[in-house]
Amino acid sequence: MDQGIFTAVDAFVEETLVAHDEALQSALDAAKEAGLPQIQVSPPQGKLLQLLARLQGARTVLEFGTLGGYSTILLARALPPGGRLVTLEANAEYAEVARGSIERAGLGETVDLRVGPALEALVTLEDEGAGPFDLTFIDADKVNTPNYFAWALDHSRSGSLIVADNVVRAGTLAESASDDPATQAQRRLHETLASESRITATTIQTVGGKGYDGFTIALVL
Ligand code: SAH
Ligand code: DHB
Ligand code: MG
Repeated sequence: MDQGIFTAVDAFVEETLVAHDEALQSALDAAKEAGLPQIQVSPPQGKLLQLLARLQGARTVLEFGTLGGYSTILLARALPPGGRLVTLEANAEYAEVARGSIERAGLGETVDLRVGPALEALVTLEDEGAGPFDLTFIDADKVNTPNYFAWALDHSRSGSLIVADNVVRAGTLAESASDDPATQAQRRLHETLASESRITATTIQTVGGKGYDGFTIALVL
């Protein structure tokens, strides 16, 4: 078993089950053209986000980490008319690329893209009385995942979902002595989840086009 077969299976799932249209392709092309890192969710993972949003009947979504807007567009499309998605991106150049792609996808009215470090944006959202969010997707700077999770939990309702990407980190999640701050943050996230009575959660390991990683799904009780 190696990366080749993981990538091939992702490609097969994408061809068979994941609808791909012009706006999405254009978002990926624009990101590549602008030199953005190619680290967006894979097509099967993006489809999972859409399925979760639909299962959830989500009307309000909060996303940490927009990049070129690929996951943003997928999540925004899963919302009913009148749905709203707030997405936070620290990098102004990435945000500009994302803004264009979101507009081209016809989602300019649905998506509220905020540029700047997410922890600062959260202060503003707090002042605005934002939330509760039906679904939160945490996919920005990994050291802050536990902080974003705590904020999301405090701005959720009973039945909200919180999903965090990149928690398994090639298996280093299991290494208590890991000296990687991003890995230690995911271990802290799990310890918080274990002691938080408002949450029930699990973590699923994944292989695919993006290698070996995984995500946490938490349901707010
Ligand atoms: N969700 C995207 C991928 C996000 S990649 C998708 O799947 O399509 C992670 C993003 O988080 C990058 O664009 C990076 O610039 C952004 N980021 C890093 N630190 C951040 C911070 N402090 N606040 C907000 N965004 C941040
Ligand atoms: C990185 C970020 C991600 O959100 C991801 O899914 C993969 C890699 C990164 O910053 O390298
Ligand atoms: Mg990610």
